[in-house]
Amino acid sequence: MENVESHGAFSLGKISPRFERISLVLLLASLTLPDTCGMGESLDLKPNIILMLADDLGIGDIGCYGNTTIRTPNIDRLAKEGVKLTQHIAAASLCTPSRAAFLTGRYPIRSGMASSNAYRALQWNAGSGGLPVNETTFAKVLHQQGYVTGLVGKWHQGVNCDSVHDFCHHPLNHGFDYFYGMPFTLLNNCQDHKPPELDAAFQVELWFYTQLIAVAVLTLLIGKTIGLVSVSWKATVWFGVLGFLFFASWYSSYGFVKYWNCVLMRNYNITEQPMKLERTASLVLKEAVSFIQSNKHRPFLLFVSFLHVHTPLFTTERFLGKSKHGLYGDNVEEMDYLVGRILDTIDKEGLRDNTFTYFASDHGGQLEAQEGKTQLGGWNGIYKGGKGMGGWEGGIRVPGIIRWPGVLPTNTVVHEPTSLMDIFPTIAHVSGGAVPQDRIIDGRNLLPLLQQKVKHSEHEFMFHYCGSYLHAVRWHQKDSGALWKAHYMTPVFSPKDGGACYGRGICPCFGKGVTHHNPPLLFDLSRDPSEAVPLSPDTEPLFHMVLESIEKAVKEHQKTLTPVPQQLSFFNVMWKPWLQPCCGTFPFCQCDNEDASVNAIALD
Ligand SMILES: *[C@@H]1O[C@H](CO)[C@@H](O)[C@H](O)[C@H]1NC(C)=O
Ligand SMILES: *[C@@H]1O[C@H](CO)[C@@H](O)[C@H](O)[C@H]1NC(C)=O
Repeated sequence: MENVESHGAFSLGKISPRFERISLVLLLASLTLPDTCGMGESLDLKPNIILMLADDLGIGDIGCYGNTTIRTPNIDRLAKEGVKLTQHIAAASLCTPSRAAFLTGRYPIRSGMASSNAYRALQWNAGSGGLPVNETTFAKVLHQQGYVTGLVGKWHQGVNCDSVHDFCHHPLNHGFDYFYGMPFTLLNNCQDHKPPELDAAFQVELWFYTQLIAVAVLTLLIGKTIGLVSVSWKATVWFGVLGFLFFASWYSSYGFVKYWNCVLMRNYNITEQPMKLERTASLVLKEAVSFIQSNKHRPFLLFVSFLHVHTPLFTTERFLGKSKHGLYGDNVEEMDYLVGRILDTIDKEGLRDNTFTYFASDHGGQLEAQEGKTQLGGWNGIYKGGKGMGGWEGGIRVPGIIRWPGVLPTNTVVHEPTSLMDIFPTIAHVSGGAVPQDRIIDGRNLLPLLQQKVKHSEHEFMFHYCGSYLHAVRWHQKDSGALWKAHYMTPVFSPKDGGACYGRGICPCFGKGVTHHNPPLLFDLSRDPSEAVPLSPDTEPLFHMVLESIEKAVKEHQKTLTPVPQQLSFFNVMWKPWLQPCCGTFPFCQCDNEDASVNAIALD
């Protein structure tokens, strides 16, 4: 879609009630005008919408995607009753940017959620970066269409900008009427006795804050000596000692991470700090079920953003030790059970035929997640690479299933390229709304493809970024059926790594950690889905033509990019004490306001 001129009809920012009325009238008017962006006529079916997104789940971890030993009967049932996408592509291979793209239907580089440094995801609840206020999420569009909108689970799109209560990046400021879950993401630090994650971020921040304290103390001392500051010696010494002790204890133990990042919130209020992992799964389930039950009489959007299957893979007793694939398999099977309970609720409430249900993963499994020889990350099937890598298929090709009884066919498989970004325009369309006209939307309405009214998806080229670096491009050449992929950069694997960056957490996007390819590495995924043998002008007569077409598409794409504030810059990502969500006395943030005995749904 070209950058269509603003119609002034669809204004979604913070606007006065009078303007809201005017824009609503204009919006209604625009719905009856001829369609200008190829979305087809507007529907007014207003089905309920349930979006379920797993964290770090590989495409090879699911029964209906070919796994014969892991048990995922509920996800398999969903596929049987709907459409299974085999080429469903995440816009990024890491949580924060992939989810930003999912929520907005736009490549993360457009919203500033793709980083050019080593911080590729938000690191703290107390950072100042996050999904910009002027981005429009699908929740905002559906809210305007009269939907009640809820998010249960992981957010990882930031919390505050300038002060601890501005909540500028919070889900409730992005179109959700209800939020229960983690503003951050699950990570190893949330469970005692697990090897801490986030170490890389610490080292730079440790350096930064030590310098800051040193400079502050020095300034005070000099100021005092020349008589510019009237602070007592006692206060100066206290300041220096306390500051030093505080950061020394923080960095030496890493213990604060759990208190600062492993937090559960209901709307703007902290319910558990730190969260108690033993009961989190049942609380997430309870919140999802009760959201459905209490909103069954009006159209609702429920985004269940699972904390599963991210490390530390905390799993309840019912599933612990039960799978054939260790702790990781146990956790996948527990998540499948949660999916089943949510599907059961839809059935029980009589909502099945009027509910659009979607299941996917935010990106591929993390090959490097290991403890000793035990694999703790997902399995990406026949696809090369995984989480954190820019272009390799294993990081971006994820499961994608959509069920809508009576509207979509059942037991159907679609092999065309689709994107997680397509969900935005698709549900905007089925809600009777439209996507914002004042910006580029990279996703496409999937409905015609899912209903098999058209043969091909609208995606001809897809751009595979690693942070803000373009690593690879896919070209679906519709007439020939070829599925070309050109890699400009690939992460450096040491020979024994066999397709991963073991010992480094995740692969880097730039610098010494990547190999530049000129000419690019070219594959035809329709013949070589595992990207095993690069083509050459000798083996592929179309070699030069394909690379020229792709190069042209890249130039066109780059023309549509405009500079935006970088949400993942060092200063936006780093921990800022004044932004720390905290119940209790900072820095000792601790509370438990959840009456879990009343709330929890037993998983066993
Ligand atoms: C099924 O998933 C497990 C867990 O990720 C993996 O170890 C195994 O190789 C997969 N099996 C198949 C047949 O894909
Ligand atoms: C949001 O605001 C930033 C900063 O002013 C601007 O660069 C960007 O283009 C805006 N985005 C949209 C979608 O309007």
